[in-house]
Formats: sequence, structure tokens, C-alpha cells
Amino acid sequence: MKKLFLALLAVCFFCLPALAAQKTNNIKLPAPQLTKGKTIMQALSERQSVRDWSKKDLDTQTLANLVWAATGVNRPNGKRTNATAMDLREIDIYVCNKNGAYFYNAKKHMLEFITKESCGEDKAPVIIFITAKAKEDATYPYIDAGIVSENIYLFASGMGLATVARGTMPMDKAKIAKLLKLGADTKLILNHPVGYAQSEKKDSKKEAKK
Ligand SMILES: Cc1cc2nc3c(=O)[nH]c(=O)nc-3n(C[C@H](O)[C@H](O)[C@H](O)COP(=O)(O)O)c2cc1C
Repeated sequence: MKKLFLALLAVCFFCLPALAAQKTNNIKLPAPQLTKGKTIMQALSERQSVRDWSKKDLDTQTLANLVWAATGVNRPNGKRTNATAMDLREIDIYVCNKNGAYFYNAKKHMLEFITKESCGEDKAPVIIFITAKAKEDATYPYIDAGIVSENIYLFASGMGLATVARGTMPMDKAKIAKLLKLGADTKLILNHPVGYAQSEKKDSKKEAKK
């Protein structure tokens, strides 16, 4: 009995702090700032793919705004900023940064820590991975992923950030899937590096006049 008690004590002593540490790695995000950014027409007029980022990091508020814009809950009924065919809500996003990888829990508006491992070298401080739970022959998940991608594009142009939708991944797809602990039914569809532009964005209207 005494041995059992000591064993339990050892479990509490060694395992609980580890579990607590894992929990503290989750990031409860601040509410999105709904009055920030350019007008929707300005954001549309400035949307473009940018592939050149400065080292400047995104602060937690900007990250919170970004993931919410991508696929956050925007109504009391739990529906999202992104339209989704047949209200499937099969899209999930993952965030990778210098601290590791996180799952965006949209219902809780929280980043759930997955791993400290890197999702691949990239110039941008943050990469968003867009995934979908999808059957092999399903097409809607790819369309739905494109809608989340456009949300990210418009958020970036509206907030003075730089991004590009990429089908090509920063490292081997299978490795990323393993790192993000994706289920066998989950497809990795697109990724979006997001950060501040290295160089001034090209003014496409000025370019067109040349
Ligand atoms: C589904 C999809 C996949 C894409 N994959 C890549 C990619 O792997 N690498 C890349 O540099 N750009 C990628 N792009 C960005 C396109 O090249 C870009 O949108 C196109 O050149 C038009 O430029 P714009 O976005 O500035 O208008 C992708 C875009 C889409 C919609």
C-alpha cells in the first residue's frame, strides 16, 4: 500500500508539471479587432501574391485577427467567416511559427499546441496550412479551401500584410501531415506564408501605366 502511495506521488510529481506545461503552450487568442483594416474595396484593389517577407514577426493580436479572418466563428450559431459547401465545415487551419505548430480551434478561438518541431524553413514568420477532411473523390473540400485562402489574401491586403497561396509545400507533404498529426482522412491542400513585405508592394496600377 505504501509502495502504491509512493508510486502515485511520483506520478503526480513528475507528470503533472509536464501536462501543465503542455497546456500553457496553448494560446488563448484575443478577440478579433473588427474595426481594423482598409475598406473591402481597397483590400480587393490591393490583393496580390507576395513572396518576399521581412523578418518582422506578427504580434498575437494580428495572429488572432488572421486566423479569425481565415475561418473564425462569426455568428452565434457557430458558422464561420468562410462559406462551406453544404455547411460541411470540413476545413481546419494550422499555424506554424518559430515556436512550433498549432491547431486553430475556431470554436474556442484558441491555438492548440501540437509540437515544437518546425514545419519547414520559410522567409515568412508564420505559415497557415489549410486542410480538409475529405473523401478521395470529393471536390467541395478543394473549393472550400480556396475560399479560406481568399479570406487570408483579403485579410493580408486589408491589413498591410504579405501572403501567397501555395500548392507547393515548404517540406515533404507526408512529413508535414505527420508533424501536424493529421488523420488519414485529412488532406493538406494549401499553405499561406504570412508576414510583412520585404520590399514595398508593387503598385500594379502604376505598373500597368508604364
Ligand atoms: C490554388 C493555388 C495554388 C497556388 N500555388 C502557388 C505555389 O505553389 N507557389 C506560388 O509561388 N504561388 C502559388 N499560387 C499563386 C499564384 O501563382 C498567383 O495567384 C498568380 O500568379 C496570380 O498572381 P496574384 O495572386 O498576384 O494575382 C497559387 C495560387 C492558387 C490559387
